Amino acid sequence: MAGKSTKKKPAQKETQAESKLEHQSEKQSNKSTSKNSVPAAKAATKASHDVSTAIPVNIGIDDAERGAIAQGLSNLLADTYTLYLKTHNFHWNVTGPMFQTLHLMFETQYNELALAVDLIAERIRALGYPAPGTYAEYAKLSSIPETAGVPKAKEMIKLLVEGQESVVRTARSIFPAAEKVNDEPTADLLTQRMQLHEKNAWMLRSLLED
Ligand SMILES: [Fe+2]
Repeated sequence: MAGKSTKKKPAQKETQAESKLEHQSEKQSNKSTSKNSVPAAKAATKASHDVSTAIPVNIGIDDAERGAIAQGLSNLLADTYTLYLKTHNFHWNVTGPMFQTLHLMFETQYNELALAVDLIAERIRALGYPAPGTYAEYAKLSSIPETAGVPKAKEMIKLLVEGQESVVRTARSIFPAAEKVNDEPTADLLTQRMQLHEKNAWMLRSLLED
């Protein structure tokens, strides 16, 4: 709420800054005429004809704040993708008396994760930033370590509980930046992701309890 009055100013600043970059020479000529009374209308017309490349993002969140949220979401994307691969790996390689239960549970989870990465990546794009999409980037951005070899079934469950909870912590850490600028679509996405991962962690954890 308190952020509302300060919210428009950075957005305006950003628009000015971005069009400054794109139309520098034009701006300079406007500057020179701005003291004379002529040209506000003329400048506006000129600018509207000059949308040659990308249209700046102007959704009421300034560039620095959108960037911070997109960075957090990139961490969330990397975590989610890494957990997706780990879960699919364990679906393939699990053995033992719990095989059927785990094979099917892991399948349900990796299918959901495969859909989730798309939502996260597309939110990053809507904020005006590129979504990371390589294993090299994910290795740098993810908080979830890869698992070497083939663990025993119970160890797989433990590793997946830890992975699910890592994603929850990453999602929760983005909340303050999203809330500060009333970024409800991101907050909504984070809420859904946290809810899902906390539920998965509970279900996995329950398998290890008597
Ligand atoms: Fe399968």
